[in-house]
Amino acid sequence: MTNIVLEKKGHVAVATIQRPKALNALNSQVLEDLNEMLDQVSADKEIRALVLTGSGEKAFVAGADIGEMSTLTKAGGEAFGKKGNDVFRKLETLAIPVIAAVNGFALGGGCELAMSCDIRICADTAVFGQPEAGLGITPGFGGTQRLARLVGPGMAKQMIYTARNIKADEALRIGLVNAVYPAAELMAAAEKMAETIAQNAPIAVQACKKAINEGLDVDMDAAVVIEEKLFGSCFETADQREGMGAFLEKRKHEPYQNK
Ligand code: CAA
Repeated sequence: MTNIVLEKKGHVAVATIQRPKALNALNSQVLEDLNEMLDQVSADKEIRALVLTGSGEKAFVAGADIGEMSTLTKAGGEAFGKKGNDVFRKLETLAIPVIAAVNGFALGGGCELAMSCDIRICADTAVFGQPEAGLGITPGFGGTQRLARLVGPGMAKQMIYTARNIKADEALRIGLVNAVYPAAELMAAAEKMAETIAQNAPIAVQACKKAINEGLDVDMDAAVVIEEKLFGSCFETADQREGMGAFLEKRKHEPYQNK
């Protein structure tokens, strides 16, 4: 991977996008690196939670690469959109939870990348927006869909039609992020949250992610059936037996085994 550094810290991994000369903008190479990073994380069963961030103090990701997009044809634009969407769906449906630690500009494809993660927290210096309409395009990596689902269609339409950026406090107010931290404290907070997640029973956590994500795509009758099946499957795990056994025996559970 040319533009992503993946570090493992126990059961937590931190992926940092590093393309400093373009504020970590997503060109084809960075999208391919993201794809490769997700394959590596999927294959490593020790990793139970992932933190995704951008290098430097200025940007999480300043968008898709405007230079690369500027000469695209209709077919090329569709293909570039598909390339981003495929990677972002892989991220969204990764078995383990992903926390976006948004350390600065998260514009266009950067905001869309953060929205493909399970949880977003940000630095007080972060800036979010979908500037595409101001560039003559629509959001291309799922922004019209995920922003509307996260903050509601009214606010999503306002942000996308006006192409106006918002600061961290407004992102918190509209529910685009869960929490805002002083910039120097962001990574510690993200890693602490990831470690807390990693201490819970991994199979159960992954089932929770699947239930929430897949349940939101169907009606409530079908959604509760998805939950029932996943709930049931937990009773085949050693971690369920240990977790409930420890409670009944009034002791702390042993570290979960992911079994
Ligand atoms: N694509 C390519 N290069 C980018 C970039 C992007 N999205 N964002 C920043 N850069 C480059 C700049 O061109 C500049 O390079 P040079 O030094 O070679 O000139 C370098 O990063 C530093 O950027 P600035 O000098 O502009 O830094 P700044 O502090 O003055 O401004 C900024 C920061 C407000 C983020 C500004 O860079 C900016 O507005 N960037 C573009 C943001 C944007 O419109 N993003 C959406 C892209 S469209 C999209 O993402 C479509 C989609 O949904 C898939």
